[in-house]
Amino acid sequence: MKPRMLKANTWWVGAIDWDRRLFDELIPLPDGTSYNAYLVQGTQKTVLIDTVDPTMTSPLIDNLVQLHIKDIDYVIINHVEQDHSGTLPEILKLYPNARVIATPNGKNLLMNLLLIPESKIKTVEHGETMSLGDKTLEFIHTPWVHWPDTMCTYLREDRTLFSCDFFGSHLAMSDLYVTDEATVYEAAKRYYAEIMMPFRKIIKSNLEKLKDLKINVIAPSHGPLYNKPEFILEAYRDWTYSPPKNTVVLPYISMHGSTKKMVEYFVNSLVERGITVKQFNLADTDIGKLAMALVDAASIVVGTPTILVGPHPNVVYAVYLTNALRPKLKFASIIGSYGWGGMMVRQITAMLSNLKVELLDPVVIKGYPKEDDFKALDKLADEILSKHKEHDLI
Ligand SMILES: Cc1cc2nc3c(=O)[nH]c(=O)nc-3n(C[C@H](O)[C@H](O)[C@H](O)COP(=O)(O)O)c2cc1C
Ligand SMILES: [Fe+2]
Ligand SMILES: [Fe+2]
Repeated sequence: MKPRMLKANTWWVGAIDWDRRLFDELIPLPDGTSYNAYLVQGTQKTVLIDTVDPTMTSPLIDNLVQLHIKDIDYVIINHVEQDHSGTLPEILKLYPNARVIATPNGKNLLMNLLLIPESKIKTVEHGETMSLGDKTLEFIHTPWVHWPDTMCTYLREDRTLFSCDFFGSHLAMSDLYVTDEATVYEAAKRYYAEIMMPFRKIIKSNLEKLKDLKINVIAPSHGPLYNKPEFILEAYRDWTYSPPKNTVVLPYISMHGSTKKMVEYFVNSLVERGITVKQFNLADTDIGKLAMALVDAASIVVGTPTILVGPHPNVVYAVYLTNALRPKLKFASIIGSYGWGGMMVRQITAMLSNLKVELLDPVVIKGYPKEDDFKALDKLADEILSKHKEHDLI
């Protein structure tokens, strides 16, 4: 994709990765992604804001060549993860006079991850500004969106916020700005769930830091730019501040149908009580969808048979991930089946230690569910209903 002008002398010079299907060897990318880099030319200085993934070195360099960029004074590294900084060594070879700007944490990571010499790096403090002549940049430290090093760069005159991972979405698309809010909402929520949710408390303080800025455009380093920033700011406020919803997330697996029968019955039981259920068969699920469902669910009920004494390994994976993502969940329980005995409940419970959830009595049965087992599932559904009511979620 060729350079695209945002404003006079401000360009998108990034790369669109239509084909990538996995990020960090973990996160599914159903819609690809983009690595947005930006070039800002002031009357006195030229800066490049972020670079691109190392696999996309050529498109970035081609864009700089097309714009006839002979000198870059500074490369601003808002975040040192390689999808944004990985091309920096190449850029520094092509533009040997360029210096790198990062937060103090960013400097440390640049030296260790990319072996950038210390003398090349200038650190900036929160609130520090830099004049490019007719344009002014302000650096806003926003730690933990996504790593401890992250910052946003604000271009005052144009009121553009270059936010890197913050407000990003893994979406490859030809439109520069958001055109279809529903599509972008889904991708941005998925991105938030996978990348941002574990740092919810710090995100609140980062949103506070942006509160008084006048922002016309948010230009993240993944996905389309927001020329109506309130759309994504409001979504982030909802995801971070709002109480969870009257929803049960139900990741499960079943080898021979017993747990599946329990899940089928239990889902109906919850639905009859007016509770929304998001059910995921972990035999083949997109973990991004599961993460997204966890953003605003009040309860999780894990369904698993006992296998080799504990939960099914796919369930271990999903529970481990849920615990690491630290969603707003308030209640948790377990349903499932065993043949002779084991420690399935104990093992799952131990894996939920990050979550501030109340554990509701599990329903773990021998073999295929029988009449009393269905009654126990109804009781658990009643319990969830009354807990959701107590918390004003219904
Ligand atoms: C590979 C395998 C390992 C199992 N290991 C255990 C075990 O360690 N303890 C136990 O109580 N049951 C064990 N079982 C029995 C299952 O937990 C039991 O059949 C259960 O009803 C299966 O539920 P499902 O139909 O939802 O898969 C094992 C079954 C399989 C297929
Ligand atoms: Fe990142
Ligand atoms: Fe990123």
